[in-house]
Amino acid sequence: MQTEIDFSTDGESARVLDDGAMLLRGYAVDDADLLLAAIARISAAAPFRHMQTPGGQTMSVAMTNCGPYGWVTDRRGYRYQSEDPLSGQPWPSMPDEMLNLAVDAAAAAGYPSFKPDACLINRYEPGAKMGLHQDRDEANLGQPVVSVSLGLPAVFLWGGPTRTSPRRRIALHHGDVVVWGGPSRLYFHGVDILAAGQAGGMSNQRFNLTFRVSH
Ligand code: SIN
Ligand code: FE2
Repeated sequence: MQTEIDFSTDGESARVLDDGAMLLRGYAVDDADLLLAAIARISAAAPFRHMQTPGGQTMSVAMTNCGPYGWVTDRRGYRYQSEDPLSGQPWPSMPDEMLNLAVDAAAAAGYPSFKPDACLINRYEPGAKMGLHQDRDEANLGQPVVSVSLGLPAVFLWGGPTRTSPRRRIALHHGDVVVWGGPSRLYFHGVDILAAGQAGGMSNQRFNLTFRVSH
């Protein structure tokens, strides 16, 4: 069951989605250009790639990572590892502008001691989507997830504790940040098929930065 899409942004700065989960509207807008420049540098060293799921499907979202650990998936499963499997080299380090933003957003949402050791960078092109899932590959589930949206708007699917829990459809815009932890740390979520943007606007992509404590 799905509820109506909610595009309301008028005057809204923060919204509690559930116990432990908060949407911080526009929180990263002022840092967006720095973040996009950092993504360009990181992906020059560790290119975006379409990973394989354990079941053998190629993901429509292209991914790379920065920080001490990176999230990867292949036929052997989902995991965190300190080297980029493409190069065998450590992932690029996490730039201060990314780390500081994630720490500040977590604190603003009620998680004052967040120190992420992993940043997964997702790149969506029109048609890409992220199926409903839980973030559960982290050893420390006491720490939240901080998720930053840049570029084209997307419809975030925010569910609940089970795969069949009712889902809300929440529009995420350039600069929006979602933080979830505590009672909603393992809530199901995903991203609906990305629609193409208006011609003449920003580049026709969406980036998502997902900060987590993996170890
Ligand atoms: C994810 O949950 O892995 C991605 C979320 C997003 O792209 O907003
Ligand atoms: Fe996720």
